[in-house]
Amino acid sequence: MTTYVPNQWYVAGFDYEIGRKPLARTLCGEEVVLYRKLDGTPVAMHDACPHRLLPLSMGMLEGDDLRCRYHGMMFDAGGRCVDMPTQDGVVRNFQVKKVYPVVERYRFIWIWIGEAEKADAALVPDLWPCEREGWTFDGGAYHVKADYRLMIDNLMDLTHETHVHPGTIGQPEILGSPIETNSEGDRVFVRRWMKGIDAPPFWRYALKKPGKVDRWQICEFIPPSAVIIDVGVAPEGTGAPEGDRSQGVNGYVIDVLTPETETTAWYFWGMARNFDLADQGFTARFKQQQGGVFMEDVEILEAQQKRIDANPDMKLRVFNIDAGGARARAVIERMIAAEKAAGDAAPTLAAE
Ligand code: FES
Ligand SMILES: [Fe+2]
Repeated sequence: MTTYVPNQWYVAGFDYEIGRKPLARTLCGEEVVLYRKLDGTPVAMHDACPHRLLPLSMGMLEGDDLRCRYHGMMFDAGGRCVDMPTQDGVVRNFQVKKVYPVVERYRFIWIWIGEAEKADAALVPDLWPCEREGWTFDGGAYHVKADYRLMIDNLMDLTHETHVHPGTIGQPEILGSPIETNSEGDRVFVRRWMKGIDAPPFWRYALKKPGKVDRWQICEFIPPSAVIIDVGVAPEGTGAPEGDRSQGVNGYVIDVLTPETETTAWYFWGMARNFDLADQGFTARFKQQQGGVFMEDVEILEAQQKRIDANPDMKLRVFNIDAGGARARAVIERMIAAEKAAGDAAPTLAAE
C-alpha cells in the first residue's frame, strides 16, 4: 500500500472490541489477530498459523496462549510455538510470522504495522480529550468501503454538514461563515466561527441557556490519520472567540482512520465532552445519534469511491473548502516520501 505512512501507530480497535475472543482485522493491508491476555494486555500477531495457514483468529485462547483450531498447535503472546500435540516436543524456531507492537491509550488499542524496532509509545497521536480528567469519551467503529483519505477530506471540510446532515448538526450558517486554514508543523487546522446565531437543537440542549450563541468548529488533522474537531457554543458576546469559553459548552469530535486496503478503511469515531459528565443516558443517546450522523458520511464516501474507481482519468478538484483535506494529504505524502527516502538510504544486508 502506498497511500499510508507505514511507521506510525494506527488504531486497531476500540478498547471494548478487543477481549478474550480472538478478533480478526485487516489493518494497513496486513491480516492481524487481536486478543487480550489474562491481565488485560492486548496482543496482535499475524493471523495465520505457521503450520498450514489457518487463521489463528479461528482458534481458542488457553490462558495467554492461542491454540490453532486445525491441528491444535499453540502459540504464546510472543508468537512462539509452545505446544505441538501432534508430535513430541516443539520444533525449534517454529513461530508466527509477525508479532506487532501494541499500546492501549485514549480508549483505543494502537498497532505499529511497520518496522517493530521503530515503535515508540511516545509517538501515539495526542488525543488528549479522550483521557483527561474532567472529560468523558465514548464512540464506535465502522467499516468503510472507501480510501481513508476521503474521510479525512470530509472531516476537514464541514461545509458538507449543511447538505449531508440537514436533520441534525447541519445549519445554513455553516456555508455562510468564512474558514481559515493553516498549518502548524505537520498539523493542519481549519477554523470556523459563527457568531450571533441560533444554536442548533443539540447545542441548545447542552448549553441550557436561551439567546443567540457564538458557535465554533475547529478541525485539527493529526498525522498520520486522526482528525479531532473542537466544537461548542457560548452565549453571544461572552468572549469565546477571544479565548474565554467559561460561559459555554465544549466537545471534541474524535475521528481516527486506519486504512484496511487502499480503498477500504476502519473508522473509529466518538465524542469527548466536558459537560454533563455523569449523565450516562446522554452518552448513550449521543453515541446513537452521532453513529447515525456518521453513517450518512459513510454512505457519501462509499458512493464517491465507486465513482473514483470507475473514473481513473478524473482528478479530485480542490477549491477553497477543500484546502484542509488537501493540506492533510500533502502531509501524508511528505511523510511517506520521507520514510521511503530513509529506507532507500539505509544500507541493506545485500549491499554490505
Ligand atoms: S494449521 Fe494450525 S495447527 Fe495445523
Ligand atoms: Fe459529516
